[in-house]
Amino acid sequence: MAVNHFSCSFIGGLLAFAAVTLTVGAQKLAGSADYVIVGGGPAGFVLAEQLSRNPKTTVVLLEAGPDAINDTNVNTPAHYPLINPQYFWNFSSQPDPNLGNNSPEMRQGRLYGGGSGVNGQAYCRGSASVFDEWAKLSGNSGLAWPSMLESFKATSHYSLQSADYEKFTNTSVFGYGPLEVSRTSGLTGFEIPFANALKLGFGLKEIDMSDGTGIGVDMGLASIYTSNRTRSYARNAFGRLIEHRPNVQMIDGAWVNKIGFNSKTAVNVTYVSAYDSKPAVFKAKEIIISAGAINTPKLLMLSGVGPKQDLSKHKIPVVADIAEVGKNLKDHYFSIFEYEVSPAIKTVWQWAFNATASEIYKAQYAKDASGPLGWDNGLVYAGIRLPDTVFDGVNGKHYTSLPKDRPHILIEYSTVPFIPKTDNISTITAWASLVQPESSGYITLKSADYRDDPLIFSNYYGTPADKRAITYGYKKLREILGRDEFKGIIKSEFYPGLTKTSEADVWTAIQNQAFSFHHPLGTVAIGKVLDKGWRVKGLKGLRVVDISTFPSPPTCHPQADVYALAHRAAQDIIKADRR
Ligand SMILES: Cc1cc2nc3c(=O)[nH]c(=O)nc-3n(C[C@H](O)[C@H](O)[C@H](O)COP(=O)(O)OP(=O)(O)OC[C@H]3O[C@@H](n4cnc5c(N)ncnc54)[C@H](O)[C@@H]3O)c2cc1C
Ligand SMILES: *[C@@H]1O[C@H](CO)[C@@H](O)[C@H](O)[C@H]1NC(C)=O
Ligand SMILES: *[C@@H]1O[C@H](CO)[C@@H](O)[C@H](O)[C@H]1NC(C)=O
Ligand SMILES: *[C@@H]1O[C@H](CO)[C@@H](O)[C@H](O)[C@H]1NC(C)=O
Ligand SMILES: *[C@@H]1O[C@H](CO)[C@@H](O)[C@H](O)[C@H]1NC(C)=O
Ligand SMILES: *[C@@H]1O[C@H](CO)[C@@H](O)[C@H](O)[C@H]1NC(C)=O
Ligand SMILES: *[C@@H]1O[C@H](CO)[C@@H](O)[C@H](O)[C@H]1NC(C)=O
Ligand SMILES: *[C@@H]1O[C@H](CO)[C@@H](O)[C@H](O)[C@H]1NC(C)=O
Repeated sequence: MAVNHFSCSFIGGLLAFAAVTLTVGAQKLAGSADYVIVGGGPAGFVLAEQLSRNPKTTVVLLEAGPDAINDTNVNTPAHYPLINPQYFWNFSSQPDPNLGNNSPEMRQGRLYGGGSGVNGQAYCRGSASVFDEWAKLSGNSGLAWPSMLESFKATSHYSLQSADYEKFTNTSVFGYGPLEVSRTSGLTGFEIPFANALKLGFGLKEIDMSDGTGIGVDMGLASIYTSNRTRSYARNAFGRLIEHRPNVQMIDGAWVNKIGFNSKTAVNVTYVSAYDSKPAVFKAKEIIISAGAINTPKLLMLSGVGPKQDLSKHKIPVVADIAEVGKNLKDHYFSIFEYEVSPAIKTVWQWAFNATASEIYKAQYAKDASGPLGWDNGLVYAGIRLPDTVFDGVNGKHYTSLPKDRPHILIEYSTVPFIPKTDNISTITAWASLVQPESSGYITLKSADYRDDPLIFSNYYGTPADKRAITYGYKKLREILGRDEFKGIIKSEFYPGLTKTSEADVWTAIQNQAFSFHHPLGTVAIGKVLDKGWRVKGLKGLRVVDISTFPSPPTCHPQADVYALAHRAAQDIIKADRR
């Protein structure tokens, strides 16, 4: 496997600098291609698949991380919190003054599949009005809900899973696309009480957050294959379609550190291979960056595209002075409660660490893919619209003026403790997340060395209205978790602890356990940095297509939106570049 890896990762790229004798796999694309795509996440794979449908179009996909298609931890849904740390970019925020100078970690996927290879597999699309807003902000009418729905269908299909519970799925909004989406096949024991408490506590109905609705309780869909209960993601759903196409070359271990320009036209990309540490270059008619919300603006800035002052500080020659590169960083982020629950609830302690239980579950999974290893770790969430009165006396109308189909807060739980515990007790983490925050942060370079992580300024809960929203949502969640539905299930509150009830204590609890949902976005927004055809304004030969281009945050987990946006963008690109 290592040998295969080694040789494949070389193909094509080395012409410029390295004299290497290749024994296997000969160069497919001889150092140049029509499209070179930087980043093999959901966006990169969808683009590569769409653009290479024309056999005359050559496509190279460069990914910094490895190919983990056979990795059991990646493939086993419940194992996502246990995935090998080597598959991550270990980003974290700079100390955030709003959080008492805590620095939330913001790791991102670094393997074929990007975030889709390490994520929690939750699949939803959220409120239709978000996409209509994208169309308006970007000037690209294809981003509006009706046409995005076609791209959602073209990228996913629903596979009915027999299960021991009811769930409303609006099957009309799924099509025949490669990504498989299903519901979970069994219950940890926390789902039904949680859903009932949310419905009754907030007066909500069950909905399917894939059909354009965003306010209500969703019993969860996930990107998991039903036949064998393994992860369905960009690598296996889309990568399998292209890996044998003669006009496509996928190269892993290829860390791109620079886009080269001929005046204002991007002409090549340089990367360093993880397998030999030598630099290599690819020429392209068109370069598309799909490196995610943190690495995309970083690569642009390293290549001279970004705010002039920042580039000059690091002595990077300016190709295009674009102030908005790295700005407008939005994320979904949340603060948590932790509860001890009955050992009857199948938490990570039970299935991963309790030797008796974990043996049973391993055997079940091996036998017929049943049991908790084939589920993600709890999958019920609610989109909640806060009453306008929550914002009385606060300057500005951000929250109250959002379209009425938008939730402000997403409430969710996991059967994994987020504050590490060693005491062999079944633990649930529950959280309230801002999904339409008012404030934004930004990203800038730390240095001109591509190996340095950029500086991330998260600015969570950064406005008075954001603080109102989270404080209200957090307290309300505690109330919900105190309801009768949890009798015999919830035993005690570990965090922050029942004595922490004053306004000051609650705010400190919110600040001290604030987490990124790992949904950073918006740092290279279409309409701001990009024109409506996905091109970096003022430059030729350079487009960006990934979550960094989102003009505003969606209302729930974003992976579905990334697949669909990349599919939309591919249609635009194919049309525009038709020669
Ligand atoms: C821990 C975690 C949990 C999540 N849970 C969920 C969930 O349950 N549901 C959901 O909907 N979403 C979830 N997400 C978010 C979702 O996975 C991402 O929003 C989505 O993957 C973004 O897609 P992308 O293609 O824009 O970027 P990414 O997925 O980040 O892909 C970018 C790719 O580019 C590569 N790359 C970056 N820089 C370079 C470079 N310089 N050279 C070469 N390659 C490079 C990266 O290694 C990566 O593979 C989660 C994300 C994480 C990290
Ligand atoms: C994954 O396993 C298949 C089947 O054994 C093998 O052909 C392939 O090379 C493996 N891929 C990687 C990246 O290990
Ligand atoms: C992130 O940290 C892990 C564990 O220390 C390490 O294996 C991995 O290489 C790091 N990722 C990067 C991109 O440096
Ligand atoms: C399913 O979704 C479509 C598209 O949003 C909607 O028109 C339809 O009413 C939904 N069906 C149900 C049963 O809610
Ligand atoms: C699981 O099944 C799907 C098809 O249903 C298949 O594509 C995939 O390779 C299988 N995964 C594993 C790890 O066996
Ligand atoms: C990339 O192209 C630029 C502009 O033509 C050129 O100056 C540079 O040397 C090229 N980079 C490599 C590594 O060949
Ligand atoms: C461990 O698992 C067994 C089997 O499910 C269960 O009976 C027992 O209560 C568990 N132990 C603890 C401490 O939770
Ligand atoms: C927790 O469980 C492990 C076995 O999984 C055991 O070795 C350890 O003693 C237990 N710790 C406590 C505090 O019970």
